Amino acid sequence: MGILKIARMGHPVLSGSSKKVEDPTAPEIKKLVSDMVETMEDAPGIGLAAPQVHQPLRIVIFKVPELRVLEKKQALPLTVLINPVIEVLTEDTEKGIEGCLSLPGMSGVVPRFSHIGYHGFDTNGKKIEREARDFHARVVQHECDHLDGVLYPMRMTDLSSFGFVEEMEKQNQNRTMKE
Ligand code: NI
Repeated sequence: MGILKIARMGHPVLSGSSKKVEDPTAPEIKKLVSDMVETMEDAPGIGLAAPQVHQPLRIVIFKVPELRVLEKKQALPLTVLINPVIEVLTEDTEKGIEGCLSLPGMSGVVPRFSHIGYHGFDTNGKKIEREARDFHARVVQHECDHLDGVLYPMRMTDLSSFGFVEEMEKQNQNRTMKE
């Protein structure tokens, strides 16, 4: 068990395409996933992809916290997805604020497909197959993008919303104080 070092934007491991995991049940994959969970909880974050911890393998982990969804039943505990595949179920997109552990302190508004299907495997080799909407769909798209070397700023259509969270919060506070 251990907390792993997180690669930041600019490191080449984040811009390459990750390799398929041949055996999702292999002990070294279980160990990597367990270290990824520990690293994500420590950060803290709600999603992490293997290339972010310098392992260019097709593995993502994520959760959907209750705070991010309208109804409690839409929340999801930690999910491990190995060799994930996404199917876009609508052309509709919605914009939402994203951050990433590989761009610490920053955030931006990113359009994502609002309804997707996805499947993959857990570390017991069990197939996971789900439909996802809204925040759930967003986090899966964000994490799976990491496996193809895509970081969220590359998906942004308006870079004026990109910046340091601390600065943007200051602006919001100033605005609130003036109003
Ligand atoms: Ni990320």
